[in-house]
Amino acid sequence: MEFSIKAGMSEHTQTGCIVVGVFASRKLSTAATQLDRASKGYLALILKRGDMEGKAGSTLLLQALPNIKSERVLLVGLGPAEEFGDRQYRDAVAAAIRALNTTGATDAWINLPECTLTKRDIGWCITQAVVASRATTYRFEQMKSKPKKTQLALRRITFGIDDATTQRLAATGLEQGLAIAHGVSLARDLGNLPGNVCTPTHLAEVARDLAKHYRMKLTVLERTQMEKLGMGALLSVARGSVEPPKLIIVEYRGGPAAEKPVALVGKGVTFDTGGISLKPGAEMDEMKFDMCGAASVLGTLKAIAEMKLRINVVGIIPATENMPAGNATKPGDIVTTMSGQTVEILNTDAEGRLILCDALTYAERYKPQAVIDIATLTGACVIALGHVVSGLFANDDALATEVLKAGEVSGDRAWHLPLHEEYQEQLRSNFADFANIGGRPAGAVTAACYLARFTKKFKWAHLDIAGTAWKSGKEKGSTGRPVPLLTQFLIKRASKS
Ligand code: BES
Ligand code: MN
Ligand code: ZN
Repeated sequence: MEFSIKAGMSEHTQTGCIVVGVFASRKLSTAATQLDRASKGYLALILKRGDMEGKAGSTLLLQALPNIKSERVLLVGLGPAEEFGDRQYRDAVAAAIRALNTTGATDAWINLPECTLTKRDIGWCITQAVVASRATTYRFEQMKSKPKKTQLALRRITFGIDDATTQRLAATGLEQGLAIAHGVSLARDLGNLPGNVCTPTHLAEVARDLAKHYRMKLTVLERTQMEKLGMGALLSVARGSVEPPKLIIVEYRGGPAAEKPVALVGKGVTFDTGGISLKPGAEMDEMKFDMCGAASVLGTLKAIAEMKLRINVVGIIPATENMPAGNATKPGDIVTTMSGQTVEILNTDAEGRLILCDALTYAERYKPQAVIDIATLTGACVIALGHVVSGLFANDDALATEVLKAGEVSGDRAWHLPLHEEYQEQLRSNFADFANIGGRPAGAVTAACYLARFTKKFKWAHLDIAGTAWKSGKEKGSTGRPVPLLTQFLIKRASKS
């Protein structure tokens, strides 16, 4: 699908379909009013008949309107004008794309500048519209023997803007929207791939292709190098697997050479059986998504490289399977982490923190301006926050605020949870420096507390995406979150330096 921006939509616009909004109680938007006038009150008449109330997400397709050049006009319900906000705008765009895809229109002109009612600028509106459009048309069919690939009729979308003076802003919005959408698609594809295809080796290959394409530096550490570095925690997770673990490092240098990088550290457990602390069978297939943190790092790198963002970023991905085996790590085993601290592994299913802690220690060598780790870390986070927001923890309040803001702007939200010292007591161990689990209470917090013991040397934020990285049930599949949040965070950081 191709996207462009244009001002000057009118009854003379030649296109397969013009999309305009209708607020609740049949209140026409500005663009709809314009078409209504040209068609001598045709839209008002239709609304009066009760075919369209303007309910959020509803659509009504009209054909061959009098005095209107466009083949079709699609009315999209926007809900009550006074309640119109970010979410309503995104939903309206998504509803429009879904409806357009059921028509034969090959091109469309979407005229929903009501988005500025949400107090966002036109650049934001276009970015959001592009990301929402792409998300709506995403399909994952590479594992089907006969991919459907039903060619969507819709090829070109023009976003109507009110006046040409905002063209520059809109163009930047378009560029950012495309980059985010491409990053999200990559993350979703990787998440959706099964564990037998998306192995640590596969992640390393995808990173290699990405690095090559965008001229980024790639380093892949193998088991022997991890041994030399003393990554006892990461290696303890990989022990039971026949798939070789990888520590994947991708360096993007878009900023001044002297500028410290932002480090993104993504959990890359390509399948999490739980290890000897084996998980129950039900829905275990979903543990192929346990590398979505890693996928979001690669997706974000793709997005920022495509935009040529002026910032330095290093992506660090510890990748491994977590398997039971005769030589697998056992509950009670004690390992020495790269930091020198010892850990009693009371539950081999708390493996994410074990691979992340060594990757976080490794991040120190980059003297990062900030580190964000992204992980499908705890079931407890799903219980606490569900599937709406990601859990956010940080050792620096300014950084936390910055991450939260990026979540709000991108619509990929997070919620700040506590990291108070008192919780650290739950990680007490009789035999090692501390344990890798803290019991049932506040499971998402104690997991973050564990990581906090490895992040004293830099400003750090942790995103627990266990509830947001994928959907279960009929719509089972990866969401690509938090690529929009991370990319927005980096766009903002780049504009500051
Ligand atoms: N990958 C899981 C977390 C997870 C569970 C994500 C369910 C999404 C849905 C993680 O490795 C894990 O198993 N965590 C354990 C930790 C526990 C043993 C302290 C959990 O959450 O049960
Ligand atoms: Mn686990
Ligand atoms: Zn896991």
